[in-house]
Amino acid sequence: MNDLNALVVDAHSAFAASHSLADLENAKAQFLGRTGRVTELLKGLASLSPEVKKSKGAAINQVKQAIETALAQRRQALADEALSIQLKAQALDVTLPGRLRPMGGLHPVSLTLERIEQIFDSMGFEVAQGPEIESDWYNFTALNTPQDHPARSMHDTFYVEGGYLLRTHTSPMQIRYALSHVKRHQPLLDAGQAMPEIRVIAPGRTYRVDSDATHSPMFHQCEGLWIGQNISFKDLKVVFTDFCRTFFEASELALRFRPSFFPFTEPSAEIDIQFPSGPLAGRWLEVAGSGQVHPQVIRNMGLDPEHYMGFAFGMGPDRLTMLRYGVNDLRLFFDGDIRFLSQFR
Ligand code: DAH
Repeated sequence: MNDLNALVVDAHSAFAASHSLADLENAKAQFLGRTGRVTELLKGLASLSPEVKKSKGAAINQVKQAIETALAQRRQALADEALSIQLKAQALDVTLPGRLRPMGGLHPVSLTLERIEQIFDSMGFEVAQGPEIESDWYNFTALNTPQDHPARSMHDTFYVEGGYLLRTHTSPMQIRYALSHVKRHQPLLDAGQAMPEIRVIAPGRTYRVDSDATHSPMFHQCEGLWIGQNISFKDLKVVFTDFCRTFFEASELALRFRPSFFPFTEPSAEIDIQFPSGPLAGRWLEVAGSGQVHPQVIRNMGLDPEHYMGFAFGMGPDRLTMLRYGVNDLRLFFDGDIRFLSQFR
């Protein structure tokens, strides 16, 4: 029996000395393997008499069970140890500050365009979009600016094959929008009835061969058009004054309609604004061209100038953005410098 006790003690110390599962398997083989010490003892029972076999067999089985229990305990201990090492290695420090993700934001000119759209929407204007690659007819001829008209020289642009060009202003949208509006309501006109008014703005990108601190080859414009049976210059003054005062949040803002010339309006005016206070106070600043739509343009819209009239304007959202935020170089808007752009978030 002493031998058997020593066997259990040996197994305990062999298991305790195993520091990996592989070591433990080797130690197990020494006792419980095919040629292990316990197995050999069990084999030796065969030659014994039945009574001795029974008592000795029971004792050996007790030893075997004790060794198996010790093995299972050591296995669990090793597994626990491995797990705690792994957990320690993968420790998550929830007190670390998170990594900052930079916030995006709208471009300042986009903010201006949104603002323009909101204000005109509140006055019942639709918002229309048109192509940036435009035909000569929509960009010039339909706007009463035929081939060789001197006004074309101020609109040098980028030409595309096939009689197309990058539009030099958003004014071609006057024609495009009016023609589709008239087409939609042709049955009314044919029946001698009045057509619903055209009231639209058309913001978008425009192009010219021009580049300095206040001009960029690509810039933005926003066209406005209101055509009805009795829409006059006084309506232009009301609408545009309202717009500017709302846009700049300055109810004392002064406006000046300065006589000018555009082929597609008669009379025509350039619109200047003057801030009552602030760094630009007292200076007249040009923000738009405008006028009463020329009868020939009304005709090109498919309407009879004896019955339909209205006003149009074209303003520069880039300029409005510069004035609103006090930016002095237009090119900053298009350089993509995050240090500049992030100031408008
Ligand atoms: N299209 C003109 C330009 O780019 C601006 C303009 C003037 C638009 C008068 C208008 C207008 O609608 O009535 O210089």
